[in-house]
Amino acid sequence: MTDQTSFDTATRIAAGDDGTTYDNVAISLHWLTALLVLTNFALAEIWDYFSKPTQQWMQSLHISLGVLLAAVIVVRLVWRLLPGHQVSPLEVGWVKRASKGMHYLLYALLVAAVALGFLLQWSRGHPVSFFGLDIPGPYGRQPRPVRHQIQELHNYVAWAIIIIAALHAAAALYHHYVLKDRVLSRMFPAARRSGPAG
Ligand code: HEM
Ligand code: HEM
Repeated sequence: MTDQTSFDTATRIAAGDDGTTYDNVAISLHWLTALLVLTNFALAEIWDYFSKPTQQWMQSLHISLGVLLAAVIVVRLVWRLLPGHQVSPLEVGWVKRASKGMHYLLYALLVAAVALGFLLQWSRGHPVSFFGLDIPGPYGRQPRPVRHQIQELHNYVAWAIIIIAALHAAAALYHHYVLKDRVLSRMFPAARRSGPAG
């Protein structure tokens, strides 16, 4: 597939395009990641508008879904590293490097958001609870400025993921509806059934 303009190339990079069809496990894990990230972000943005008990329930759900997201990310990264699961790039040179960079940046931000979430909860002197199953922290309650710092970092990283993922999604949609190539469709199982095209 040939890039037509530098904008096309840029959106290909932003979509994280690196050239082959994803397997069904990778596809499922991608959409599960997106769903968990968006749900967790939405919960955090709206819980202030609810009564105290509902707010606490939403925060517990946020943490449980966050633990699930941590597991999904670990499985995704292990799956990606297993022999036979690497995607061989179509692109060469700087476009290939930049599109890989986009993937790594998203993964790095996801790991950072989840790690900061755990650190934040533990810094408050609470365990990280996965639907009632407690994961105790390696340290106790931290002073207020430390807790505040971690919360701010968690918030910034969450916003960075949302902004970058929005650009990433917009780029994928641009490829699908304007360039009419396989960048988006290969993130769906149908692309495997119909085999490689364009
Ligand atoms: C918070 C939401 C999202 C996150 C965190 C995210 C993250 C990622 C990551 C890390 C990859 C690289 C996969 C790999 O090679 O291991 C990827 C690929 C991809 N994502 Fe997303 N994504 C999100 C939402 C979306 C949405 C909404 C769309 C579509 C509208 C989308 C379309 C794609 C496509 C098409 C690829 C494959 C690009 C290619 O190599 O051809 N993503 N995404
Ligand atoms: C990518 C996944 C996640 C996203 C997008 C996300 C997003 C957010 C956002 C935007 C806030 C509000 C921050 C503020 O008001 O300053 C927040 C708060 C919080 N998050 Fe997350 N978070 C994620 C994962 C996690 C995980 C894995 C945990 C714990 C294991 C966690 C624990 C918390 C806690 C304890 C708070 C503070 C709640 C409160 O104000 O009492 N988050 N999160």
